[in-house]
Amino acid sequence: MLLANEAATLAAAEQFVAKLPAQRPLIIWLQGDLGVGKTTFTRGFLQALGHTGRVKSPTYTLVESYELASATVHHFDLYRLADPEELEFIGIRDYLSGDAILLFEWPDKGKGILTEPDLALTLTDHGEGRNLSVDCFTEVGRQWQQALAL
Ligand SMILES: Nc1ncnc2c1ncn2[C@@H]1O[C@H](COP(=O)(O)OP(=O)(O)OP(=O)(O)O)[C@@H](O)[C@H]1O
Ligand SMILES: [Mg+2]
Repeated sequence: MLLANEAATLAAAEQFVAKLPAQRPLIIWLQGDLGVGKTTFTRGFLQALGHTGRVKSPTYTLVESYELASATVHHFDLYRLADPEELEFIGIRDYLSGDAILLFEWPDKGKGILTEPDLALTLTDHGEGRNLSVDCFTEVGRQWQQALAL
């Protein structure tokens, strides 16, 4: 899926929310290089769920949480994680078994601790814009991808 500009990334995130599965936890990985648009996608996702405030990049805090009317969303950025074991200190097991939507930037940094996502989205540079590709790992993820016709 080609995303020509930032607005297209926000609109794509809104489409994902429009077909949002009911399952919780719902886990999404956001993969791709520095500055490719992972936080932008998350902002579009949160705004589509009704969030009106800022979306801070949780680079230093590891996680930012949003209690919205329709869902609880935890936005992780694992870029600064030195060791996946550090995730134990923030109670990652409770997040992974809870009833929220979890978005992970830099999920590779949590290898061995994170469980497989429903969907893994990968952003890559494409000219001035970006390309978004989607891989599913669960039946819920497969149905979501199908509903999006991706
Ligand atoms: N489809 C797009 N085309 C062009 N620019 C985009 C697109 N989507 C987002 N951007 C721009 O990319 C820049 C970086 O975005 P963002 O902070 O979301 O990246 P990130 O992947 O979260 O980076 P990091 O790895 O540092 O967390 C922003 O200036 C944003 O406007
Ligand atoms: Mg980011």
